[in-house]
Amino acid sequence: MKYREVLEAAVRAPSGDNCQPWRFVIDGDVIRIFNLPDKDTSLFNHRQRASFVAHGALLENLSIAASAHGYTLDISLFPDSSAPNLVAAVRMNKGSTSADPLSPCIPKRCTNRKRYNGGSLSTAETQTLLAAAERIPGGKVALTGSDREKSEIADVIALNDRLIFENEHLHAFLFDHVRWNDREARERADGLDIKTLELAPPDSFAFPLLKSWPLVSFLKQFGVPRIIAGSARKLALSAAAIGVISVSGKGDKECVCAGRLIERVWLEATRLDLSFQLMTGITLLMRRVLDGETEKLSPQHVEQIRKAYGTVASRFGIEDGSVFIMFRVGRCGPPSVYSMRYPIDKVVEAR
Ligand SMILES: Cc1cc2nc3c(=O)[nH]c(=O)nc-3n(C[C@H](O)[C@H](O)[C@H](O)COP(=O)(O)O)c2cc1C
Repeated sequence: MKYREVLEAAVRAPSGDNCQPWRFVIDGDVIRIFNLPDKDTSLFNHRQRASFVAHGALLENLSIAASAHGYTLDISLFPDSSAPNLVAAVRMNKGSTSADPLSPCIPKRCTNRKRYNGGSLSTAETQTLLAAAERIPGGKVALTGSDREKSEIADVIALNDRLIFENEHLHAFLFDHVRWNDREARERADGLDIKTLELAPPDSFAFPLLKSWPLVSFLKQFGVPRIIAGSARKLALSAAAIGVISVSGKGDKECVCAGRLIERVWLEATRLDLSFQLMTGITLLMRRVLDGETEKLSPQHVEQIRKAYGTVASRFGIEDGSVFIMFRVGRCGPPSVYSMRYPIDKVVEAR
């Protein structure tokens, strides 16, 4: 297959619950990249925004990996208004170009959900992560390492995990995507391998029981969702810094740009040997609420999400209507396992 190595690097990109919502058609020197809307039916993926962010990360990988093979790309985003699932048409041009130094980081990049070791980022590390925004018009990276500010944002992050155990739709989507053992993770090649959740006892024993929605609803009266939210809060606070990337505008193209930017920041963090996790479900729900799509969310949850938006927007100076994604970054040991990907032949069609 033409461009096999470049495409294998591209699909190492992150996607919501590792749903890999993409398919490629290679036609000569043009690669068409399609979104598969049925892959992510979660409340987080309002108007396919989460999937378009994943496509942005994929395009960034594609562009970086292509440079290492001597290609430059002409990328045309959403080139056909009658084909909304066609995210990009990419022309591969062979020529002399220098390899992007981030290329070796693509296979090393991963989500690390362990507890981090606190500490702080050095000035040089901070500057490197902030500088990633320079390549994306309208893009911005903001970081905070102050305990007070981290605590404020950790409350917002904790809200997301609480909602997952208080909202049946969010709960169902998460548990549909958990792969419970090595064999299932390998055979399905998508979703969240249970080992990537880095659960330590007693959480690792309790987690399979929480798959049952009737049990979770019953446990709500004993404050179980709040206890789970407390764990997410501690994870956020263990980071050296919590960050946000934003891109001004709220259209589909801006979501793709946000994905490109987050992937660059993540690859830079990988190059610096830093661990990284997106903690961004709540920012995706915020967009849904701001668009007035509140069906399937309780009025209390809508109110809490609105309040959380105000906190993050004022803390990080987010312009009204920007696309934004939150993450934590810091230091800890390597993840227990890397997540799987579909074999490349399963997602590419050559003409
Ligand atoms: C738009 C988007 C939102 C995500 N949100 C979260 C999140 O809130 N929490 C989390 O742990 N991972 C989140 N992820 C990371 C994915 O779960 C992860 O990329 C995927 O499982 C593949 O694993 P990898 O990053 O190790 O390759 C998100 C990814 C994307 C693209």
